[in-house]
Amino acid sequence: MLKQYGHFINGAFVAPLEGEYFESHNPATLETLYEAARGSAADVDAAVEAARRAFENPAWRRMSQTKRGHLLRRLGDLIGENAEELARLETQDNGKLLREMRGQLASVPEYYYYYAGLADKIQGSQIPSNSPDLLNYTQREPLGVVGAITPWNSPLTLTTSKLAPALAAGNTIVIKPSEYTSRTILRVAELTVEAGFPDGVVNVVTGFGAEAGAALVANTTIAKISFTGSTATGSAIAASTAARFIGSTLELGGKSPNIVFEDADVANASMGVVAGIFAAAGQTCIAGSRVFAHRSVYDELLERVSERAKSIVIGDPMDLSTELGPLAFADQRDKVDSYVSLGVSEGANVLTGGTRPKLELPGYFYSPTVLTDVDNSMRVVREEIFGPVAAIMPFDTEEEVLALANDTEYGLAAGVWTKNLSRAHRMASRLEAGTIWVNTYRAMSPMSPRQGFKNSGVGIEHGMESVNEYTRLKSVWINTDEGPVADPFVMRG
Ligand code: NAI
Ligand code: MG
Repeated sequence: MLKQYGHFINGAFVAPLEGEYFESHNPATLETLYEAARGSAADVDAAVEAARRAFENPAWRRMSQTKRGHLLRRLGDLIGENAEELARLETQDNGKLLREMRGQLASVPEYYYYYAGLADKIQGSQIPSNSPDLLNYTQREPLGVVGAITPWNSPLTLTTSKLAPALAAGNTIVIKPSEYTSRTILRVAELTVEAGFPDGVVNVVTGFGAEAGAALVANTTIAKISFTGSTATGSAIAASTAARFIGSTLELGGKSPNIVFEDADVANASMGVVAGIFAAAGQTCIAGSRVFAHRSVYDELLERVSERAKSIVIGDPMDLSTELGPLAFADQRDKVDSYVSLGVSEGANVLTGGTRPKLELPGYFYSPTVLTDVDNSMRVVREEIFGPVAAIMPFDTEEEVLALANDTEYGLAAGVWTKNLSRAHRMASRLEAGTIWVNTYRAMSPMSPRQGFKNSGVGIEHGMESVNEYTRLKSVWINTDEGPVADPFVMRG
């Protein structure tokens, strides 16, 4: 009998109201892992109602900010204590390498500690007043019930980026995790109760985007949606929330440039290119999928990157010697495959990869792929593939590569490899992306704000500003003069 997971609502697991479940599979072995509740609008409404009551509950509403910080710290500790279990669950769910998950689980508690520290620093300010008898100050208030919708590629980390600041600011939350990765979020929800968060502060409704996800977006009690996922879904959510005048924080797709100049250390840059596109099998929003190499180093870079790509160890993500696991589900593998075919029909050359490797495991594996003979006009270079596919192109001048790099609908991240300090700063300033890496790629920290420019998103995650995404600002005016209030229709001399 497969284990069945209910929704997590009001501090406990509950069966779905319509009684339906769906199966979750291991993308490496194709084994069926468990069944999760298939959330309906009725389940979502029950979860939002629990969150609304928890928001009104004095046990949460009147809890001191310092205490909220303590609870977040405790939650971080509990996640750390359960790190190995969480890492394994996530590897089974989405095929990410266990060794990468162990690394992520070492950093996830730090996000909770960061927001624990911020919890009692969320504050308004006194505003200068030109009128000596008027005191004007601001206060930052929680929004109410936040809806969080998260993807499958890094479920725990990307949910943490929403959950931790929402709680630090005093909101309650309903999370709809990806249908491919339900378990770790359910486990963390359980841990929030163990950490001491009152029942109903953190709720999880599992299920499909078009069902539970859409119902969460449509729920009229929700005060905000925070979403990470595809640009198409983000755009639909933005339209729906805008029509109701509620906010959304959106972390969307990318087609990030990784630029190697003639003065770069090409060996280092090659490793940066490999990490940028092949880590997590390319299933990251920040994937450095468009690689631009100066013509004088182009051949050397191609050689180094394709040699490393060919030697990448593909296999069981549980095995610590594996370097590339499967894609997270069949459609995703098929999507990657069809993009490579599309690239070929557009005139691209498959320098390495482009195949489904033959392995003992039946899962959704795809070999690390390098495309050449490509240019910025091809769909394979313009659209997010979300797989281990690098398009490598030569360039001649800084101006030229800057124009090419910025010629994209996306603006999530960009990498620059150069030893020239002036050039590094010029590029950092002129690249249209929310995160710029120079001589490194993929660096990330709870302390550092990130924001998608252009079609890569709206709003800030991480860093001090990010908690403000989960507050509203109120301006309070107090008349400190107890004397008579002047008749407004008598002109004052
Ligand atoms: P998606 O954007 O459709 O799904 C992300 C989350 O949104 C999931 O929890 C899903 O259930 C939910 N969702 C889907 N449709 C919804 C709707 N109408 N209303 C409310 N919630 C909804 O992404 P999906 O289908 O998992 O992957 C498709 C493609 O999106 C990938 O191939 C990849 O290119 C891109 N993607 C990009 C991510 C990024 O971080 N940039 C993350 C995940 C996917
Ligand atoms: Mg989808």
